[in-house]
Amino acid sequence: MRHSPSQSSYSFEVVKWFAYMAVVYFVLGTGIGVWIASELAWPALNFDNPYISFGRLRPLHTNMVIFAFGGSTLMAAAYYVVQRTSGVRLWSDKLAWFTFWGWNLVILGAIITLPLGLTQSKEYAELEWPLDILITAVWLSYTYNFIMTLSIRKVSHIYVANWFFLAMMVMITYLHVVNSLAIPVAMWKSYSLFAGVQDAMIQWWWGHNAIGFFLTSGFLGIMYYFVPKQANRPVYSYRLSVVHFWGLIFGYVWLGSHHLHYTALPDWTGTLGAAISLAMIIPSWGGAINGLMTLNGAWDKLRTDYILRFLVVALAFYAMSTFEGPVLASKTVNALSHYTDWTIGHVHSGALGWVAMVSIGAIYHMVERLWQTQMYSVRLVNTHFWMATLGTVIYITAMWVSGIMQGLMWRSYDEFGNLSYTFVESVAQMFPYYAMRASGGFIFFLGACLMLFNVTMTIRSAVKTSAAQKAVVA
Ligand code: HEM
Ligand code: HEM
Repeated sequence: MRHSPSQSSYSFEVVKWFAYMAVVYFVLGTGIGVWIASELAWPALNFDNPYISFGRLRPLHTNMVIFAFGGSTLMAAAYYVVQRTSGVRLWSDKLAWFTFWGWNLVILGAIITLPLGLTQSKEYAELEWPLDILITAVWLSYTYNFIMTLSIRKVSHIYVANWFFLAMMVMITYLHVVNSLAIPVAMWKSYSLFAGVQDAMIQWWWGHNAIGFFLTSGFLGIMYYFVPKQANRPVYSYRLSVVHFWGLIFGYVWLGSHHLHYTALPDWTGTLGAAISLAMIIPSWGGAINGLMTLNGAWDKLRTDYILRFLVVALAFYAMSTFEGPVLASKTVNALSHYTDWTIGHVHSGALGWVAMVSIGAIYHMVERLWQTQMYSVRLVNTHFWMATLGTVIYITAMWVSGIMQGLMWRSYDEFGNLSYTFVESVAQMFPYYAMRASGGFIFFLGACLMLFNVTMTIRSAVKTSAAQKAVVA
C-alpha cells in the first residue's frame, strides 16, 4: 500500500477530478440558488410543479453548494496539501478513489431524493439514512487516508493547514454521526432518535459546527496553504496560527444555542452561546489578520495577480462575517434579526465572500500546478473576480436592507397596541430586494460559468500540449 515518496509521483489524478467536479458543482449549486432566489421574487416560476418548488429546491441548493461544491473543494485541497507538505504521495490511491466515487454518489442521491421530497427535515442534514451511512463511510475513508498519509510523512513537523483539515475531519465525523442517529421505518423514511428541545439542540450543535468545522476550519486549512503559496511569502506568524487554531477549536463547539434564542431551550444555554460567540471574534480575527499580514511587503502583487485577489478578498469577507456573527448572536440583536433576511445576508457574506472566494482562488492555483500550465485566459480570471465581488456585494446589501426592514415591520405597533403591518404587507415590501438579490446572484453565477469555461479550456490545451510533447519524444 505504501508508495515511494518522489516529487513526480504524487497521487494527483484524484485531486484533478475533485477540483474539476468542484467547479461543475459550483455552477449547478449557484444556478439553483439563482432559480430559488427568482422564485421568491416571482413565485409563478414554481409553475405549480412540486419538484421544482422553493421548499424542495432550497435544500438542494444548500446541499449542492456546501457539500458538492464545498466538499469537493475540501477533498481536492486536503489531498493536495497533505502530499505537498508531507513530501509523500497519498497512503492509498484506492481509498482516495473510493472517496471520489462515494462522494459523487452521495451528491447524485441528493439530486434525486430532495426534489422528490425525501428528507429528514434537519437543516444541512436533510439526506435520509441510507445516504447518511454512505456519507459516514466516505468521510471515514477520507479521514483515515489523510491521517495515514501524515503518518508516513517525510517532513518532521505537521504544517498548520493540516491541523485545520484534521480538526474538520474528526469533528464532522462526530457531529454527523450523532446528529444523524435515527430509527429507519422504511427505505427512505426515518425518525430522529432525539425528541423536542433535545432534538433542536443536537441539530444546532451540528448546524453551527457544520459552519465552524466544515465551512470555517476546512477553508482556513485552504487559506493557510494557498495564501502563502500564491503570495510566495511565509505565513506571517506561525505562533499566531497555532493560538488561533486552539482558540477556534475550543470555542466553536459551544455556539449552537445562539440559533435557538427565545425558544423552549433553557435561557442560560442561549446566554452561554451568545457570550462565547462574542469571544470568537478574537480567534477569528487572529486568523484573518494572520492571512492578510502574510502579504506584508507583497501587496503590489495584487495589481497583477488575480488569483491572489480572490484569496485576499475572501479574508476581508471572513473578517466581516465573523464580526457580524457575534453581533447577531447577542439576544437583543437576535430578537430583531432572527427569521429575517438579515440572517440570509450574513450567511451569504460568509458563503459567497469567504467560502466561495477562497475556494475559487485555491482551485485556480491548483489547476495551474496540477496540469503544469497557465490559465487559458488570465483576463477571464480578472473578469470573474469582479463579477464575483459585485454579485456578492449586491446580494448581501439587498438582504441587509430587506432583513432589517422585515424585523422593524414585524415589531411595529400602533397607539392601541395592534401590529402596524400584516405579515403579507411585509412580504410585498420585499419585492425590490428579492429582485436585486436575484440579479446579484445571477452575476455571481455567470462568473462561475466563466470559471468552468476557463478551467475546461486550460485543461484541454494542457492535455493537447502534453500529447504533442509525447509524440515528439516518441
Ligand atoms: C448565485 C449565488 C447564490 C444565490 C443566488 C443563492 C440564493 C439563496 C437563496 C434564495 C436561499 C434561500 C433564502 C431563504 O430561505 O430566504 C439560499 C440559502 C442558503 N444558501 Fe445560497 N445562494 C447562492 C450561493 C450560495 C453559496 C456559494 C453558498 C455556500 C457556499 C450558499 C449557502 C446557502 C445556505 C447555507 C443557505 C441557507 C441559509 C439559512 O438557512 O439561513 N449559497 N441561497
Ligand atoms: C465568529 C463567527 C460567527 C458567529 C459567532 C456567527 C453567528 C451566527 C448567528 C448568531 C447566526 C444567526 C442565528 C439565528 O438567528 O438563527 C448565524 C447564522 C448563520 N451563519 Fe454565522 N456566525 C459566524 C461566522 C459565520 C461564517 C464564517 C459563516 C460562513 C459561511 C457563517 C454561516 C452561517 C450560516 C450558514 C447561518 C444560518 C444558519 C441557519 O439558520 O440555517 N457564519 N451565525
